[in-house]
Amino acid sequence: EWTTGNIVEEQVAAIRAQVGEARVICGLSGGVDSAVAAALVQRAVGEQLTCVFIDHGLLRHGEAEQVERDFVAATGAKLHVADERGRFLTALAGITDPEEKRKAIGREFIRAFEAAEHAVLDQAAAEGARVEFLVQGTLYPDVVESGGGEGASNIKSHHNVGGLPEDMEFKLVEPLRSLFKDEVRAVGAELGLPQEIVGRQPFPGPGLGIRIIGEVTEHRLDILRRADAIAREELTAAGLDGEVWQMPVVLLADVHSVGVQGDGRTYGHPVVLRPVSSEDAMTADWSRLPYDLLGRISTRITNEVEEINRVTLDVTSKPPGTIEWE
Ligand code: XMP
Repeated sequence: EWTTGNIVEEQVAAIRAQVGEARVICGLSGGVDSAVAAALVQRAVGEQLTCVFIDHGLLRHGEAEQVERDFVAATGAKLHVADERGRFLTALAGITDPEEKRKAIGREFIRAFEAAEHAVLDQAAAEGARVEFLVQGTLYPDVVESGGGEGASNIKSHHNVGGLPEDMEFKLVEPLRSLFKDEVRAVGAELGLPQEIVGRQPFPGPGLGIRIIGEVTEHRLDILRRADAIAREELTAAGLDGEVWQMPVVLLADVHSVGVQGDGRTYGHPVVLRPVSSEDAMTADWSRLPYDLLGRISTRITNEVEEINRVTLDVTSKPPGTIEWE
């Protein structure tokens, strides 16, 4: 019988057989797949696993803490955190072109991961052990897609900011290779991961870096993070997480909109709400969210985030509009 419990047992046995006594390393992105893959490997080989989290400073409010605190509490996994926020801000300084941003983030991610990896390897060596395996959260659709000709693999490489150095000597552990996303979420829940992690909506690898239209700065990230947290909180409170595939909040950082706030005219920035319904992100429709919910989000963002004085709604389907603005 094909149950979530069986999947866990089977994968745990397979991981033990594959890994033996060797050490294993796993990068955590904040997303569902890497968290569930890591939790499975932790269940299988415990202390032999070291997780690595590169904090690039482009995650949303509370997401770094979800990895550093909640994931660790739920799994007991060993975690190496690299605070690389400064590195990414420096690399992004002056860049406004979306593809240049992606390249810069991808490049720095590889460098940061290599540095963290060396620290983990050295630690293992000091304990007389060897790291031989790398965990990847590859899903069944990824396996099919990367076998699907050049077009498909191009899309993947473009989208995969978690892309790792090619010359790495590790053997791969891929415990999610036969699973679909909903099965991965069920396995995560079975392993005791919190709902905030297993229920997370898709979020791009370059994170908030491609939701700030214009240069990415620390201050702009802070503004966007506060606005995004309000939007997500209200969507969840309205019970509509299940209706919406994802809801980017986009900061038009180079646009100065005029407003009246308090005593006088203000120059602030607009944000765009981009709630979409989709099956697979290849096509999407804009979500018909209730006006009252949109009103609450707008009122709260403009009241609570003083740099923002205008909230707009994107009513474009995909195609022609992509889900992200960059
Ligand atoms: P678009 O904007 O192309 O997005 O309609 C389709 C899906 O892919 C996500 N996305 C990305 N994911 N790296 C990623 O890992 C990226 O550079 C990237 N760009 C878009 C987007 O959030 C949506 O789910």
